[in-house]
Amino acid sequence: MTRSARPARFTLHPDFAVGDVDPRLFGSFVEHLGRCVYTGIHEPGHPTADGAGLRGDVLDLIRELGVTAIRYPGGNFVSGHKWEDSVGPVDQRPRRLDLAWRSTETHRFGLSEFIRFVRAVGPQAEPMMAVNLGTRGVAEAIELQEYANHPSGTALSDLRAAHGDKDPYDIRLWCLGNEMDGPWQTGHKTAEEYGRLAAETARAMRQIDPALELVACGSSGRSMETFAAWEATVLAETYDLVDHISLHAYYEETDGDRDSFLASAVDMESFIETAVATCDHIGARLKSTKRINLSFDEWNVWYQRRTALRPEEDWQEAPRLLEDHYTVTDAVVLGSLLIALLRHADRVTIACLAQLVNVIAPILTEPGGPAWRQTTFHPFAQASRHGRGRVLDVRVDSPTYDTAKFGAVPLLHATAVRADDGTVTVFAVNRGQTEPLPLEVTLLGMDLTTVVEHTAVADADPEARNTLDDPERVTPHDVAGTRLGDGVLTATLEPLSWNVIRLA
Ligand code: AHR
Repeated sequence: MTRSARPARFTLHPDFAVGDVDPRLFGSFVEHLGRCVYTGIHEPGHPTADGAGLRGDVLDLIRELGVTAIRYPGGNFVSGHKWEDSVGPVDQRPRRLDLAWRSTETHRFGLSEFIRFVRAVGPQAEPMMAVNLGTRGVAEAIELQEYANHPSGTALSDLRAAHGDKDPYDIRLWCLGNEMDGPWQTGHKTAEEYGRLAAETARAMRQIDPALELVACGSSGRSMETFAAWEATVLAETYDLVDHISLHAYYEETDGDRDSFLASAVDMESFIETAVATCDHIGARLKSTKRINLSFDEWNVWYQRRTALRPEEDWQEAPRLLEDHYTVTDAVVLGSLLIALLRHADRVTIACLAQLVNVIAPILTEPGGPAWRQTTFHPFAQASRHGRGRVLDVRVDSPTYDTAKFGAVPLLHATAVRADDGTVTVFAVNRGQTEPLPLEVTLLGMDLTTVVEHTAVADADPEARNTLDDPERVTPHDVAGTRLGDGVLTATLEPLSWNVIRLA
């Protein structure tokens, strides 16, 4: 129930800022899972494929999406992965059981193909490589690092050259395992076991290259029984050796409770704030001046309750797994999750939308056929394009609505980013399902006179989707009536909408 129809308000001033946006906040994730790689980004023989088998239509969409850091090769997959299987002549690579997703991995796409893919995405993209700390350990991590990054003159760097890649890949950003707190993880560990292993691995990797950026595994969800205690134990071991700790969160509508689903970012913001508090608590205990930042390296809407591995699909190559088809409601929630990340840009320096293609992804493909944008593609692409610069402090005064999970929640969720050229973009979500929400923003200390555009993702049907037959059903549309005069921006936000308002 909406409590009041009064306008939602906030004030912007350039002197009151959260922090600068790290471009890696707009990262994504490619896992060997289902069809993310095979028939997603890689499909030799597809009409748009290049000589390396990379789909040109998908690459175009990924560039438009504007992703930066791309995490690889998993996910749960990495915890049973032998990196050596994924290099060298493709026809000699082994087929292996992937225990995580009960699939057969052919390794037709591996490390060098991934690096080629990241370079094809463009200069804004960078690899974020995960090492296996489930079934493997320190030795294999530094061997992979030597293969990938050492220039030449050692067995593994020369092997890379013999495989055709003379120049090192120069991977700067590394994840020390994946979700090691989760009992489902191959090689799952206690916090003490993982903390020691992560510290030893980080120390060895830094012996080769002290300047690497390293991410330790935090909790795979804040509902994990070990959340916060896990982070505290792991950071007590690794504080001086790592730069970031990871967070993962997925949201879905349950039991028809759309009001709570639309407030998912309340949970995400509180997860971030608790993780920051835990990092800083360990820093204080260690009397350290160093700050650990957050890598929110898996986040999205994911209908996990509808996801089941089907026995009849066991050990198939690239089966259709986790192919969620997103609605306009999902797009609005995803936009709100982006707002949550931006509102914490001072501490969230990396974030990866999980995943990139086909698997809970903003892009869908058909083998041999087209690729298209899901509803969720649009808020991400717009935020990545216009959300670069300094996040301004937004303190919302908004009418509220009642939710079963979070109590009274503001109808307005918003942030604002000021670019280097002084232009400002307001990102705003109206969580209300039925009523338009009037918005008033007071602009102080900035010479802003013009509304460049106001677009919204919204639809009369909250279940509207983009499909193979109707791929443009949901796209951002222009919103009329938005004004800027006497230093006050006024707009009306449609019910259940994601809004981008650009001011110059
Ligand atoms: O993104 C899908 C899976 O979710 C990842 O493999 C895993 O890390 C997480 O549980």
